[in-house]
Amino acid sequence: MVSSTNFGFLAAFLSGAVHVVLGHPLGSAAPDCDRSVMAEAADAYIAAQTAGNVGMLQHAVGDSWEYEENNKKKEAHEGLLSKALKVDHRRTNFDLVACATYTELIAADPANPFVIGTQIRHGVDGRVTLIDTIASTTNSWLFDAKKTLEYVLQEEWDPIPKGKRDSRDMIKAAGDAYLDMWSSATAANAVPWGTPCTRLEESAYTGKGRPDDSCKAGIPSNHSQAPNTRRRYVIDEAMGSVSIFCVWEHMMMAADSHEFRLEGGKLRYVHTMTECGGQRCTL
Ligand SMILES: *[C@@H]1O[C@H](CO)[C@@H](O)[C@H](O)[C@H]1NC(C)=O
Repeated sequence: MVSSTNFGFLAAFLSGAVHVVLGHPLGSAAPDCDRSVMAEAADAYIAAQTAGNVGMLQHAVGDSWEYEENNKKKEAHEGLLSKALKVDHRRTNFDLVACATYTELIAADPANPFVIGTQIRHGVDGRVTLIDTIASTTNSWLFDAKKTLEYVLQEEWDPIPKGKRDSRDMIKAAGDAYLDMWSSATAANAVPWGTPCTRLEESAYTGKGRPDDSCKAGIPSNHSQAPNTRRRYVIDEAMGSVSIFCVWEHMMMAADSHEFRLEGGKLRYVHTMTECGGQRCTL
């Protein structure tokens, strides 16, 4: 039996709850990521890398921000950011839930070639807390920056129209299933293979420009290999993309970046960068 007293309590409780919800419309699980602040930080990162001057990030970073390069924590001024690069291409994707960006960057200059993936994470105040970068160069797996640039520029990464976007969970699950193929016999069945689909593994391109291009050619047949671990994600529903950084254990514990783009629920593009601790990558 519900007495009027209890009912009154319930009403007061509910109005209190409503007030709390209105006070924090997105709740603590969904921070209010500021896209323009994140875009400015990604631009500052590109400017700093172009100049080889970490100081140009000063206004964007928090007091105790961290820097990681090829899966190792470093002082930023001792890393690649202190080397000026001629940037030929960059594309930044936005994760508006995790407050993070992923930037793909190519410097094809033969004197200083790099293909770089960078995840930048922001704190609640919008300031950068972590710059996490996978920087492939000479000796990295299938490295040829000039070719990578050529292929990347052929692809279309237009934003996906609002009604046609895949869910965050689905995009993430597709990327995870793909990375699980080395260590799980059932993972390949969980990848939403698309047609056409093309893989750009550093400079090796599976695409032939045909409508039946497939990403299945040469996928792992040995599912008992070491797993791809320590995964870090940046998910952009508008791009249909997920960037996953990991440890590519079966290839010299390499630092690895895989980026996936889905279109209409199906895998369309895969980009990879794999750096083996300064050594020549071999399987
Ligand atoms: C599969 O990979 C594991 C781990 O590297 C290796 O021990 C095994 O020999 C491989 N199996 C085949 C059939 O190549």
